[in-house]
Amino acid sequence: MARVTDVRTAHTSDLDAATLRVGRALLDDVFDDMTDHDWEHALGGVHALVWEGDALVGHASVVQRRLLHAGRALRTGYVEGVGVRADRRGRGYGAAMMDALERVVRGAYDVGALGATDEAATFYAARGWTLWQGPTSALTPSGVRRTPDEDGAIYVLPVTAPLDPTGGLTCDWRDGDVW
Ligand SMILES: CC(C)(COP(=O)(O)OP(=O)(O)OC[C@H]1O[C@@H](n2cnc3c(N)ncnc32)[C@H](O)[C@@H]1OP(=O)(O)O)[C@@H](O)C(=O)NCCC(=O)NCCS
Repeated sequence: MARVTDVRTAHTSDLDAATLRVGRALLDDVFDDMTDHDWEHALGGVHALVWEGDALVGHASVVQRRLLHAGRALRTGYVEGVGVRADRRGRGYGAAMMDALERVVRGAYDVGALGATDEAATFYAARGWTLWQGPTSALTPSGVRRTPDEDGAIYVLPVTAPLDPTGGLTCDWRDGDVW
């Protein structure tokens, strides 16, 4: 079993090129449809990494975004790139990475958020992440546009911001998948 001390956290700026390459390679293995944009979305914040010796077996990160809700632009810790190598699942690694990132979210942000895969939805819900029930949208270069395909897939971790999970939630703009 992994101990909590097996999870290392580091800002992207403190990871060398080789570590970033193995992080990307791990997520390429975990997700069939991983894109360059998906990887780029996981950069620029704090990574949680699980190593078994020299082998990276788990990756997750949290980056800052702005989510618009109820007239406020919430400083949001957005969780990206959560994956554990298939043959290492069920050993507590995913939970240990989320423990580390949730500490970052609670310490630095108004709210946490993530877009969950169908497979992982119950994993997040069991950790206290709340399913966003209201309409989702994105602040695109041509204005606010609904993102109906993401409705029912966004989870938030309440921290300090008052939230109405039945209300609207709008994410800032980025290339690739916006949520
Ligand atoms: C989701 C994922 C990261 C979980 O990692 P993991 O190391 O297997 O999870 P853990 O062993 O820490 O499990 C922690 C708890 O969550 C539960 N759990 C793990 N995966 C789960 C899942 N997919 N659905 C529901 N519960 C899950 C475990 O049973 C365990 O429960 P317990 O504390 O009651 O024993 C891993 O399954 C994975 O990489 N999946 C594929 C990629 C993916 O979908 N990532 C999420 C992107 S949003």
